[in-house]
Amino acid sequence: MLKIDPAHTPHQKVHQMMLGAIAPRPIAFASTMDKEGISNLSPFSFFNAFGVNPTTLIFSPSRRGRDNTTKHTYENLKQVPEVVINVVTYAMVEQTSLASTEYPRGVNEFMKSGFTPIPSETIKPFRVKESPVQFECKVRQIIETGDQGGAANLVICEIKLMHIDEAILDENGRIDLYKIDLVGRMGGDYYCRASGDSLFKVKKPLQELGIGIDSLPEKIRYSAFLTGNELGKLGNLEQLPSEAEIAEFISISRDEHNDLDVADLYARAKALLADNKVKDALTLLMAHL
Ligand SMILES: Cc1cc2nc3c(=O)[nH]c(=O)nc-3n(C[C@H](O)[C@H](O)[C@H](O)COP(=O)(O)O)c2cc1C
Repeated sequence: MLKIDPAHTPHQKVHQMMLGAIAPRPIAFASTMDKEGISNLSPFSFFNAFGVNPTTLIFSPSRRGRDNTTKHTYENLKQVPEVVINVVTYAMVEQTSLASTEYPRGVNEFMKSGFTPIPSETIKPFRVKESPVQFECKVRQIIETGDQGGAANLVICEIKLMHIDEAILDENGRIDLYKIDLVGRMGGDYYCRASGDSLFKVKKPLQELGIGIDSLPEKIRYSAFLTGNELGKLGNLEQLPSEAEIAEFISISRDEHNDLDVADLYARAKALLADNKVKDALTLLMAHL
């Protein structure tokens, strides 16, 4: 493994490694206003949600690494501690990137990037009409982590009002990830698009207490055939198949499975796991190994 000690490595290299590894990152498209009423719109991917009571979003318009100057967004927030955080979809990504251009102070990136400003209800900065979710936020606190180039300015925001386009909701009134079509920032010039085959489900182990991979029979746990993800699914089962279940399985499927070698058995178990028939997969393996 390559080892990097940030204290003895150029900031640019540290930055590159952090951004390549900590990805994809959601993008806060932050609309702010200075005390003269001039708007600013810029994207920030040092961003996430941290709490719901009170609602807490944090993003960081950092000090520039090259000359240690501060960003207009940060300066505006010091004057007017309010921000609309708009989410960024695939349909918005090129214009959003354009809005990140380092225009001089006073240039309104709504105009430059062609997005439509619409009034907020609880704060002064405008919302981005094209964004399907807009959070009107008050700034509770800004934490400056340092005074040198590359230091973070953590803007801690509380949501005062959420606007959600009904077109991105599913039949249960929840945000439909296939409809919202969000993008994330990766390292360098790369983004990713959260849609289609990129989306998949992993059942939350909230209610059930999974047995854990350490409870699987050793033969299965240490087999060369199963991947970490497949073992993870098996470890999420609430209990091992009982002896009665295994015996029943053997009596039903004896003819079908008797001639299979170990590789074939695992191939069948893997197909069942891919189909989320997790208990069947484990029963098959325990019955025939
Ligand atoms: C997708 C994306 C994400 C970005 N994330 C950040 C970030 O988290 N922090 C930061 O300081 N700059 C970030 N930038 C760069 C700023 O958007 C850029 O410096 C912008 O000009 C700042 O504008 P302002 O000075 O008007 O606030 C990002 C740029 C893009 C395109």
